[in-house]
Amino acid sequence: MSGEKPKDLPDEAALAGMSRDELVKLGTNLDGVELVHYEERWPVEGTRAEKRAERTVALWFTVAALSGLAFLAAFLFWPWKYHQPNTPDHFVYSLYTPLIGFTLGLSVLALGVGALLYTKKFIPEELAVQQRHDGGSTEVDKATVLAELADAGSRSTIGRRSLIKRTAGLGAGVFGLGVVALPLGSLVRNPWADSDSKDSLWHTGWKSEHGEKVYLRNYTGKPHDVQLVRPEDLDAGGYMTVFPFRESERNDEHALIMATKRVDAPVLLLKFRPGQQVVKRAGQEDFNYGDLYAFSKICTHLGCPASLYEQQTGLLLCPCHQSQFDVFHYGKPRFGPATRALPQLPITVDEDGYLIARSDFIEAVGPAFWERKS
Ligand code: FES
Repeated sequence: MSGEKPKDLPDEAALAGMSRDELVKLGTNLDGVELVHYEERWPVEGTRAEKRAERTVALWFTVAALSGLAFLAAFLFWPWKYHQPNTPDHFVYSLYTPLIGFTLGLSVLALGVGALLYTKKFIPEELAVQQRHDGGSTEVDKATVLAELADAGSRSTIGRRSLIKRTAGLGAGVFGLGVVALPLGSLVRNPWADSDSKDSLWHTGWKSEHGEKVYLRNYTGKPHDVQLVRPEDLDAGGYMTVFPFRESERNDEHALIMATKRVDAPVLLLKFRPGQQVVKRAGQEDFNYGDLYAFSKICTHLGCPASLYEQQTGLLLCPCHQSQFDVFHYGKPRFGPATRALPQLPITVDEDGYLIARSDFIEAVGPAFWERKS
């Protein structure tokens, strides 16, 4: 083919009468394209090598479809609810994220490999040189481009490769279903079905069950060394990290350990100096016990433990992104990316003089989530 434009352009009637091959040739000439190399991948149809190549491509599309189906099944039906480490169901739960990541990744990868292999094994090998030119496309150009596109489709031999067409359609279809399932999944899996449980995001390990007292415990690192806390255990200006404890768990090593491992369990118990000016949050005026105040340690930005306390200023610093919370001002954020105050645990003292939680936190602890309004 020549890269020179023909001088006599065909009119519309002549264009309508031209075959696709003629239009393709005309189009390449008009575009100043010169084919310097063109070679069919399979000049002889139906050879064993060609069929083998076809099966290889189909195999990848089949893998894409199967892994897409596996992703759908895992995403919708795998036990996804959180189980603490060292519980029987933790291992199965811990496979959830790797499983959906692996199956979705494999589906995308197999689709890509299938498409690449098809291009490499079936699209004719060609080398073309084209000159650049300015201006918009003429009617002739548009007609010939359409012919060229149809010709490219035809030369790719996809029309006669039904196995590849079916498996590619299946793989892409299942993958598409997976993409649709992502936003619709929550209609099948309802994370709020049991929202009154202490394991839901609305509650914490401080939630009392069956009216049992929840004590503030100073954890020494030994599960059975239960140190309950009295107001006099802290000096003015002092603080300690406390965890929930229930008498029913005293001899249950597993429950004792789990009570300290929950991410929403750590609470910072502070004893302010007498006469310290404190601003309390509206509706939470009685959450403290004298000079004792208890705040969740879980940062309301992204959930790191906020533990660096400066008793002179009353600022509690989260080391992750430098949020600062003012515990003299109901845990209000003073600096950094956190926007919500640290939740305050309502506390009191029981008849034996031990500090106990009066109830669970009255708001969700930690970072925001979709359903959270505040
Ligand atoms: S997690 Fe605390 S500031 Fe980001």
